Amino acid sequence: MVMGHLEVIILAAGKGSRMCSELPKALHTLAGKPLLQHVIERALQLESEKIHVVYGHGGDVVPTALSRFAIDWVEQRQQLGTGHAVEQVMPKVDDQATVLILYGDVPLIELNTLQQLIEMSGGERLALLTLNRDDPQGYGRILRNGSNLIEAIVEERDATEQQRAIGEVNSGIMALPAGALRGWLAKLESTNVQGELYLTDVIAMAVADGVEVSGLVIDDSLQVAGVNTRSQLAVLERHYQRQQAEQLMAQGVTLRDPNRIDIRGSLAEEINIAAEVTIDINVILEGRVEIGRGCSIGANSVLRNVKLAEGVKIEPMCHLEDATIGAQCSVGPFARIRPGTRMHPYTRVGNFVEVKESEIGEGSKVNHLSYIGNTIVGSGVNIGAGTITCNYDGVTKHQTIIGDNAFIGSGTQLIAPVTVGAGATIGAGSTISHYVPGEQLTLTRTQQKSMKWQRPVKEKK
Ligand code: UD1
Ligand code: CA
Repeated sequence: MVMGHLEVIILAAGKGSRMCSELPKALHTLAGKPLLQHVIERALQLESEKIHVVYGHGGDVVPTALSRFAIDWVEQRQQLGTGHAVEQVMPKVDDQATVLILYGDVPLIELNTLQQLIEMSGGERLALLTLNRDDPQGYGRILRNGSNLIEAIVEERDATEQQRAIGEVNSGIMALPAGALRGWLAKLESTNVQGELYLTDVIAMAVADGVEVSGLVIDDSLQVAGVNTRSQLAVLERHYQRQQAEQLMAQGVTLRDPNRIDIRGSLAEEINIAAEVTIDINVILEGRVEIGRGCSIGANSVLRNVKLAEGVKIEPMCHLEDATIGAQCSVGPFARIRPGTRMHPYTRVGNFVEVKESEIGEGSKVNHLSYIGNTIVGSGVNIGAGTITCNYDGVTKHQTIIGDNAFIGSGTQLIAPVTVGAGATIGAGSTISHYVPGEQLTLTRTQQKSMKWQRPVKEKK
């Protein structure tokens, strides 16, 4: 078997009118990622020479959004049909290549299916991915002859009553030799109900030219399911999430309810969760997330680009973003950990605490109702309830430094830039704007006064 190199063509020029959206369909997201990106990432897993993407509707928005990928972007100015779309790419495709056709709105196609299809083509046959459906409506039907060989595809709108009863449908995905494809495309005619150049017409041409057409029939309809409506997108999203959930459970993660977790990133590449991790309901993991052994994530928490070392406990209702949390730390409930936060091991950030661009040293505690921004907190520090770093003067962010083993009384305001020495104690309710020496008690408090006072009394009705 002699086989040339592989070139992938992804069709994504369609408008997607049924999405009722300004955004091109290719950029609607599944698991937080554009539909087209799912297909591109799949194509990148194949050893292809080139990936061509046909775009059109929405103009440069699509290539711009996905510009970080090494793609040959080909514009199809007018959407004159799937055959016309492929034709736009052919001047750039080598005659010796095997061409694989994919679709920007069919995101869940699996790698091994495509590998099988390419192998089936063998650089000389036309290999077509088909499936049997109870409800074939909307799809092109596969016509087979008496010997059960594929003869042609007929589009639903061009089909006879009898043909419409056929349950085997065209997924649209195919692998075929480029040289022959070029010749067939040149002969396409738009003599059909939609007045389009149908890629599907090449099947009958292959048969006429004596090129073998093989069907790879799959029964997993979700792999070839296209997204035409937001409702279909929602179905694929749930399916995809469930698959990811199964994978996590298989690797030793406890999910309190596998139907109530959302993973917006790819497992292994972006999201790594060790065994013996427990995740409660309605948790969202986004971007690059690493969760160490023995961690537990409470209900309704969102973790975006975070790294948790071993044994971290995230209580319910927490929001963490771009942060690193050391071993055995505890966060929440109701904590907000903002970008640039680094919690060293054994630290505790409690309820209604917001931390931003700060480092919290080993064993330190910020337990209640605080804002800690642009701060370096040493180890063994206790920050009392309601303590706030006043880090912003309206123009610039300023830094607060708190030395090891300091004790900051409740309700303290630290007006940055300011430094608190190691072992210092600050009395509750202080407003600190100057250097606080270590090992001493510092407080800024007015004298407590008492006087006679008659509280107003409500008249009884
Ligand atoms: C196509 C197939 C049909 C198959 C179905 C599977 C044809 C003629 N029909 O029908 O047999 O069962 O897919 O879903 O191929 N596109 C372009 N440029 C165009 C037209 C389409 O890039 O000019 C892209 C669209 O963005 C879309 C894909 O090609 O991703 C399919 O186009 P669509 O119009 O949805 O084809 P179907 O009618 O669904
Ligand atoms: Ca379609």
